[in-house]
Amino acid sequence: MSWIREGELTIIERFCANIIKAGPMPRHVAFIMDGNRRYAQKCHVERQQGHSQGFDKLAQTLRWCLNLGIREVTVYAFSIENFKRSQEEVNGLMDLARQKFSRLLEEQENLKKHGVCIRVLGDLPLLPLDIQELIAQAVLATRNYNNDVSEALLDQCLYTSNSPDPDLLIRTSGEVRLSDFLLWQTSHSCLVFQSVLWPEYSFWNLCEAILRFQMNYSALQKARDSYMEERRRQQMERDQAYVTQKLQQEGLATHGDSRHRRTLLQKCTAMREQRIQGFLQALEHKRVDFFERLCPVSA
Ligand code: IPE
Ligand code: IPE
Ligand code: MG
Repeated sequence: MSWIREGELTIIERFCANIIKAGPMPRHVAFIMDGNRRYAQKCHVERQQGHSQGFDKLAQTLRWCLNLGIREVTVYAFSIENFKRSQEEVNGLMDLARQKFSRLLEEQENLKKHGVCIRVLGDLPLLPLDIQELIAQAVLATRNYNNDVSEALLDQCLYTSNSPDPDLLIRTSGEVRLSDFLLWQTSHSCLVFQSVLWPEYSFWNLCEAILRFQMNYSALQKARDSYMEERRRQQMERDQAYVTQKLQQEGLATHGDSRHRRTLLQKCTAMREQRIQGFLQALEHKRVDFFERLCPVSA
């Protein structure tokens, strides 16, 4: 049997899925899967059993997401803080992750076909030293080009840069905090906190969360659009200020001739783009090197 369980939704589930799909759907959903130990306690089973059922629930939830046409899912399965748990529990969790995720990888062709992406996110202190150095060098280099540094560039530097920010973030078990998960990426996401313990998560819980997203959709969209507009405006303002400074250095009148000003503005934008692409490419090479050193591909 496939770990990402085969099998379709029941008739009633399919019926409700179709109704929900008539509204705006999240493209990317993030889950903080919480409550495994409380579930184990509640059901009088071993803690490891609670974690194991939690992993299986992930498989089932991915299947529901596929059925609902949700193209991307990011999950918080383990945090740096979780290393402080007993050695026995950490080992148990790592064993489960190895076991369940390798099963998932075996099925990745199927996942790719459906466009689901699973990503392991790191933490800043875990960045390899040479990547930290590269960022430090970039910071020094940008002293001369202050207008290169922007929130858009920060977005592009993150591991999550090649996917859209989550539209919906769900945390189970009644905890109402993010525990450092995707803090930057969820600033315009719909946050839904549900009291159900993760191993008991149901299709209906997922539908409820999506309905809450749909009810807030226009407000979320408006906030995101005006934030993007503000970003563009700020970048334009920085570029204009840079051009004015250049014109002054050239000894031209404050505004210079407008055609010359426009040409300078285009040149400055193109050069910035070139510097940024160079930096991002170097960052990507360092990352690839780091992961190759971490998990050498056997010949
Ligand atoms: C979430 O469940 C899974 C992990 C953190 C690995 P917990 O283990 O935090 O369970 P609770 O929240 O203590 O019930
Ligand atoms: C949060 O872990 C991360 C996951 C659910 C994987 P915890 O359940 O230990 O949450 P905090 O650290 O108490 O916020
Ligand atoms: Mg917890």
